Amino acid sequence: MNLSIRQETAEDHRDVDTLTRQAFWNLYVPGCNEHYLAHILRSHPDFIQTLNFVAVLDDQIVGSIMYTRSRIVNRDEKNIDTVTFGPVGVLPEYQRRGIGTELIRHSTEIASRMGYGLVIIHGSPRNYCKHGFKGSKSYNICNSDGKFPVSLLVLELKKDLLSGQQWKYVDSDVFNFGEDEAEKYDKQFPPMKKEYRYTQEEFKIASNAYIL
Ligand SMILES: CC(C)(COP(=O)(O)OP(=O)(O)OC[C@H]1O[C@@H](n2cnc3c(N)ncnc32)[C@H](O)[C@@H]1OP(=O)(O)O)[C@@H](O)C(=O)NCCC(=O)NCCS
Repeated sequence: MNLSIRQETAEDHRDVDTLTRQAFWNLYVPGCNEHYLAHILRSHPDFIQTLNFVAVLDDQIVGSIMYTRSRIVNRDEKNIDTVTFGPVGVLPEYQRRGIGTELIRHSTEIASRMGYGLVIIHGSPRNYCKHGFKGSKSYNICNSDGKFPVSLLVLELKKDLLSGQQWKYVDSDVFNFGEDEAEKYDKQFPPMKKEYRYTQEEFKIASNAYIL
């Protein structure tokens, strides 16, 4: 397999948004918004250009990973800068060949070299524990409501950063966009049918599940 990982360029934007749309379509909700997120991320101050990678197979872009700045804060208002990835996607017909693994491995290695100590994401434990992520409760990092969602996952790149204290995860406000603007952006792409898939129910359950 002739796979390479390189940084995204301006010429790749449309291909990446298209592949992101294809990867996420109908998976978690009918349709998807992740291609709009990819689009607005690039011009947001929290976007980390250096960690924006595409996977290229035989000259075709088949996968993408994008990162934003995030942070954790403790009771004394001490902040630690962290990074968050998403969307990460691989074209459906190229999934289960190790491309997602390579995007995560490569980008977390660069994040570590950049000096970041923690990668924190919302995602399915099924997808990420195999890459070393653990539930946020293991690190005492809660969400803004003081809870530990099953989907809040942490990859420790540097040991002993957290000194046993309670931390709160704060992610970028880029994720707080409106459905209407996302819907409008989607109109720029060829029509695809919004449909129910059982994975949407799995997602609903998983995103309302907490570790006590
Ligand atoms: C999640 C996602 C990015 C993973 O990408 P991927 O390229 O399929 O990931 P990988 O191929 O590295 O790993 C997936 C599985 O294929 C297996 N695999 C890897 N190489 C393989 C090969 N050559 N042959 C067979 N299986 C292989 C892996 O072991 C893994 O198995 P598991 O799920 O049973 O643990 C991709 O599935 C995707 O785009 N999903 C839709 C969007 C999405 O959900 N994004 C994440 C949001 S949280």
